[in-house]
Amino acid sequence: MIKNITPASSLKGTIQVPSDKSIAHRSALFAALADGTSRIKNYSRAADPQTTLSCIRQLGVNVELDGEDVLIHGKGRFALRSPDADVDCGNSGTTMRLLSGIIAGAGIEATLIGDESLLKRTMKRIIDPLRMMGAEIVADNDVAPIHFFKNDGLKAIKFELPIASAQLKSCVLLAGLFGKEYTTVIERTESRNHTEELLNLKMEKFDGAKIIYSNSTTQIPIQTYTIPGDFSAAAFWMVAASIHPNTRITLPAVGINTSRTAVLHILKRMGADIKLQNQRVQGSEPIADIEIKSAPLKGITLSPEEIPNCIDELPILTVAMLFAEGESHFNGASELRHKECDRLHAMAEMLKKVNADFNEQEDGLTINGNPNFTPQGSYFKTWHDHRIAMSAAVLATKCSTPSQIEDAECTAISYPGFFDDLKKVLA
Ligand code: S3P
Repeated sequence: MIKNITPASSLKGTIQVPSDKSIAHRSALFAALADGTSRIKNYSRAADPQTTLSCIRQLGVNVELDGEDVLIHGKGRFALRSPDADVDCGNSGTTMRLLSGIIAGAGIEATLIGDESLLKRTMKRIIDPLRMMGAEIVADNDVAPIHFFKNDGLKAIKFELPIASAQLKSCVLLAGLFGKEYTTVIERTESRNHTEELLNLKMEKFDGAKIIYSNSTTQIPIQTYTIPGDFSAAAFWMVAASIHPNTRITLPAVGINTSRTAVLHILKRMGADIKLQNQRVQGSEPIADIEIKSAPLKGITLSPEEIPNCIDELPILTVAMLFAEGESHFNGASELRHKECDRLHAMAEMLKKVNADFNEQEDGLTINGNPNFTPQGSYFKTWHDHRIAMSAAVLATKCSTPSQIEDAECTAISYPGFFDDLKKVLA
């Protein structure tokens, strides 16, 4: 589907962003391992979290809808069974990587597959530690299909994360949940912490690193999860509202877990007018209503340490940089090349389309921004990547003539109502 986006002079309104994708995946997977029924409130209707539900069903877990809630009837981590067919993780890297830890730990036989994009993404990062634990895995060229053979139990490992990745951290810790001895993960650069927080894992700090433990005595809570609004989805509106004049957007009940909110501080350093109102705790996650008003932005240089906590927001942050006064730069972001598409390349192509003054490096971008930049509308490719499509749509609202967004339906991977919400704030 090609979506037409018309230029906007200002944006106004209140948007309820979809519920958090990272927490949704985890709540469903953890509930599937628990011995009892968990209730999940505000479970995302986006494609990726729905994929996780269909995957756990294939492992023998009963998933039920109760009005708006999802009920997951777990029978304990050792009751999972080998699926009858390949388990399709769709477009979701989080599903594939976290589920791999569970399947290897449970010692069941399964083959994980995915869509065209997921079949191209490296799984080496998770295959290596799972093999160190004793899992028998076949994956040609370290990409899916990944076949897991049955095993009689993995051994515990002490694993220092070679990259700041919450998916990798979670995969190893989930595999560790099935073994007698403690599996230990050492994290030197912080990545999102939902796994250790939701599972209440044993943790300590040592020599500036976070050490996280899991084993079979780790109790998996049977609980009601209430999922907050997705901060990563909110970021599109934070940027859109900042770069348009006479604009005010309110985003109620958005998760503000500090391992996710780097972009908030980055935008504020750029001069954005963003207020967190009514801060409160919902379940185990802090949330707030976020109010954003137009503000003149100035260029910024990000430090490589900031990148892991804003990795999903870098595409839309690039759009903010384009409309900020002066030079902006980030590097240390080569992980962007391993997302749903090569996001550095995709953003560079988007910038080319509007004749932006920029430079692409192996692991970053330098952009010469201008608040008065009013490019002509364009036809934007998306590489079937939801975050690229939404970034292009926000950029398109700043163009002088209408633009087209290719494959616009891919926004449903994380944000099914994105274009309806855009129409609402344009009106
Ligand atoms: C996620 C972790 C991040 C992020 C992805 C969701 C998660 O990936 O990009 O969208 O829920 O754990 P990495 O951990 O590979 O950086």
